[in-house]
Amino acid sequence: MPGLRFFVEHDEQRIFDDSEYEAVGCTLVENNSWPTAPPTATIIGLKELQESTDPLPHTHIQFAHCYKNQAGWSSVLARFHRGGGTLYDLEFLNDASGRRVAAFGFHAGFAGAAAGALALSSQQKGKKLGHLQPFENEDAMVATVKQLLGGSGKGVKALVIGALGRCGRGAVDLFRKIGLAEDDILKWDLDETAKGGPFSEILDVDIFVNCIYLNSQIPSFITRDQIIGAGPQRKLSVVVDVSCDTTNPFNPIPIYTINTTFAEPTVAVDVGAQNPALSVISIDHLPTLLPREASEQFSMDLLPSLLEFPNRQTARVWTDAKKLFEEKMAAAAVAEGLA
Ligand SMILES: NC(=O)c1ccc[n+]([C@@H]2O[C@H](COP(=O)([O-])OP(=O)(O)OC[C@H]3O[C@@H](n4cnc5c(N)ncnc54)[C@H](O)[C@@H]3O)[C@@H](O)[C@H]2O)c1
Repeated sequence: MPGLRFFVEHDEQRIFDDSEYEAVGCTLVENNSWPTAPPTATIIGLKELQESTDPLPHTHIQFAHCYKNQAGWSSVLARFHRGGGTLYDLEFLNDASGRRVAAFGFHAGFAGAAAGALALSSQQKGKKLGHLQPFENEDAMVATVKQLLGGSGKGVKALVIGALGRCGRGAVDLFRKIGLAEDDILKWDLDETAKGGPFSEILDVDIFVNCIYLNSQIPSFITRDQIIGAGPQRKLSVVVDVSCDTTNPFNPIPIYTINTTFAEPTVAVDVGAQNPALSVISIDHLPTLLPREASEQFSMDLLPSLLEFPNRQTARVWTDAKKLFEEKMAAAAVAEGLA
């Protein structure tokens, strides 16, 4: 983009080498040096900033996870209020028809389903799923999962809720690719959950993957009482909560309270010693299991909007996002007593 300069922080963890950025004209700078960038710089990052009360004077483009009353939402926005900065939240950049311009959904669902299948295979061997490492690519992921399931996922039964969405389609795709029979992949969306939970059908599959986009209070899909009540016959072994509304007061899967990590991918649900084990995967950065493909797809989808960013005072995708930010920040200012 003419007239724009791009600085990229050095990062040992990243799947892309520094040289790949240099090759396209970016300047490499020190890791975590963004707070000292000139005030006119726009900071593009992906996930939440580290917790702090420091004022934020810059313009940020990121997933801040603070618009849906998540834990700590108002203190994050208060940092922008105090610093005079602006947040353009990537989760709320929409096209003219209201669809998100870019989302990681497909690879999140794909990777979440893979992690669920890996947890099932460990559990069947009486073990706990160990440290997850990012895969080089999708083929490597599929091959590993199949191998650990003894050559194929045939015979495994899965239920995906939110199956028509991005994450849901990714989860279904993974299950197909590892060899589950089509009839063994139950695909639910709004029609199937309209009757209201909890749903006993969830107890009759090996892996339940939740991929819904939660935007209102709904009855729980599954409860601990229901799981314990199912006794030793329960088939359900692994729950993958791709949606990860862990701290949302309306989380429809109220059987766990923490987000799990690559180092500790599963958390056990206390279901009583007499009952079969049940573990939950609630990793909120699942696309990092397939970092290159997930990043390339997201970037391709975001690029047309980014190209409009220099005209953000008039370009609808950016003016809408700014308006939403201002509304949320005003609510946060009231909540934090800053108004
Ligand atoms: N864990 C992660 O790493 C990760 C990564 C990306 C996205 N996500 C999260 O996954 C969720 C889904 O994202 P998406 O991009 O797939 O959204 P999406 O809008 O593409 O799809 C959501 C689907 O859920 C369905 N749905 C909504 N409410 C439902 C209900 N009550 N019952 C049944 N179906 C319902 C919708 O009809 C839709 O088909 C979001 O909360 C997103 O933040 C998590």
